[in-house]
Amino acid sequence: MDKKEQDQLKREAATKAAALVKNNSVLGVGTGSTVAFFIDALGQRKDQEGLTLKHIVTTSNRSKKQLESLGFKVDELKDIDQADLTVDGADRVADTLDGIKGGGGALTLEKNVAINSKRNVWIVDESKVVEHLSGFPLPVEVLPISAEQNFRKFAAEDLKPQWRENEDGSRYITHYGNYIIDLAIDPIPVPEGLAAYLDKTVGVVEHGLFLGICNEVIIAKSNGTIEIKE
Ligand code: 5RP
Repeated sequence: MDKKEQDQLKREAATKAAALVKNNSVLGVGTGSTVAFFIDALGQRKDQEGLTLKHIVTTSNRSKKQLESLGFKVDELKDIDQADLTVDGADRVADTLDGIKGGGGALTLEKNVAINSKRNVWIVDESKVVEHLSGFPLPVEVLPISAEQNFRKFAAEDLKPQWRENEDGSRYITHYGNYIIDLAIDPIPVPEGLAAYLDKTVGVVEHGLFLGICNEVIIAKSNGTIEIKE
């Protein structure tokens, strides 16, 4: 699938999700190129139908800037109790609706917004859909104070750690001033076990295993259809 075709599929899934957004609701908005199409579609609904939202919270400065450029006011997570709906992209989504997220480095805020949302809908093109979680390195956000120890521990456990880097070779730094270690384990044989291990590893801030969080996936397929999995 070339980029043009993939972008078209992302746009279709995003447009379908934008139709789910209810007037005067509290909306969570994720991060990524698919979500950028979703924000465009929200802007169209605002212009054409006067869509208004009680609150919008988002998971990155990129999405915040795009929303504000379209005239939406963006609040912070602390300003709301719960979102009615959060729409986000994903790097991989399995048959169980478990996913890998964090390719864009926004996993910590994404998970915090997601678990404070009544409903989570993911929008993906069909290239992201897998039977079991695989095909994408698992992002793990770590505190700089113990990052080297975390890296060595992951290497000793054969979790195939790689530092996330910027194009100039410097270490990628998250919104919260942390590093990301990508674990190139493929496939992830027991996601629940790995999540439990990472959750109890001191120095790990958050990881990109989103298990039991997604309620519905909107998948745009290259045969022109949209599949919805719940
Ligand atoms: C960012 C994410 C994104 O949702 C994920 O990387 C998908 O992005 P895209 O829609 O650009 O493929 O988890 O941290």
